[in-house]
Amino acid sequence: MVRVCDNRAGMRVGVIGLGIMGAPMARNLLRAGHHVVVHGRRPARVEALIQAGAEAVATPAAAAAGADAVLTCLPDGPDVEQVLVGPDGVLAGAAPGLLVIDTSTIAPDTARALAARCAAAGVAFLDAPVSGGEQGAIAGTLSVMVGGDAAACARAAPVFAAIGSTVTHMGASGQGQMTKLVNQVIGATTLAAVAEGLTLAAHAGLDPAAVIAAVGSGAATSWQLANLGPRIQRGDWAPGFMVRLQQKDLRLALAAAARLGVPLPATAVVHQLFTAVEAGGGSDLGTQALARALETLAGSGADS
Ligand SMILES: NC(=O)c1ccc[n+]([C@@H]2O[C@H](COP(=O)([O-])OP(=O)(O)OC[C@H]3O[C@@H](n4cnc5c(N)ncnc54)[C@H](OP(=O)(O)O)[C@@H]3O)[C@@H](O)[C@H]2O)c1
Repeated sequence: MVRVCDNRAGMRVGVIGLGIMGAPMARNLLRAGHHVVVHGRRPARVEALIQAGAEAVATPAAAAAGADAVLTCLPDGPDVEQVLVGPDGVLAGAAPGLLVIDTSTIAPDTARALAARCAAAGVAFLDAPVSGGEQGAIAGTLSVMVGGDAAACARAAPVFAAIGSTVTHMGASGQGQMTKLVNQVIGATTLAAVAEGLTLAAHAGLDPAAVIAAVGSGAATSWQLANLGPRIQRGDWAPGFMVRLQQKDLRLALAAAARLGVPLPATAVVHQLFTAVEAGGGSDLGTQALARALETLAGSGADS
């Protein structure tokens, strides 16, 4: 039997990956009136979503069974592969016509391969990586960059409406992920510029809050300055967006660019700076911890 997706609110949506981004997306799907079925590995995270109105199941296959759509938000490509095509994976529980919406950031090639595996089972797969950070996930204002079949993208509209405010269909499978890599190149190099500027400000004896207010009102404003500048100023290194995930994204961007013969010199330097953060034990810190590596280079030893 071919399932027909209901385009109104009230879809049955499986959500797998209940971390910093996936959990608030599940909450926003519940708020939008969808029946949300979650699968997660940490009981506390699952319990919090049950309290918010979700149903919990033990496997990805069970999250897919009877669902109109399954949304995944997992760290990297191998995790998405395991959840979709592994034992007790989504495809094991899927009926033809299921829509898989992968909001993780993974390699474009992996997205294309997964789309083909899903298509062979009669399942539509969209690569739909997101930008806007934890705040955007909580507010339901993410930017969603979609690759895959246009009709599948249209069917996903009720899900996208719950999690995001901008949805852009970028083309065939993998093109959503390629767009997200562009986003990461711009975001990471901008963050490095913010961290460098604030390091200079600290060494020049400027009031960092006044710098953020002044510079943030001019041509140097950015999401990174507005959201991560105050955290750098406070020495708040909690994630947000973990350094190890940023490094994964920069590796993917550098690899994709290398295949295309495109140099990304600034991105390569920022990747190395994040390697210094990781060498200092900072893999699970937020990306704003890049400022710590710059402080070390500046020789201040300050714990700003
Ligand atoms: N954080 C951001 O600002 C941001 C913004 C845009 C895009 N992204 C992307 O979104 C994705 C998720 O990021 P995040 O920050 O939400 O990471 P996260 O907090 O680490 O969440 C990932 C979740 O996936 C779960 N998971 C991993 N493998 C699983 C499996 N086999 N079965 C079930 N659950 C599994 C993890 O469970 P455990 O806790 O049990 O390991 C964790 O809850 C990444 O691809 C990231 O690059 C993140």
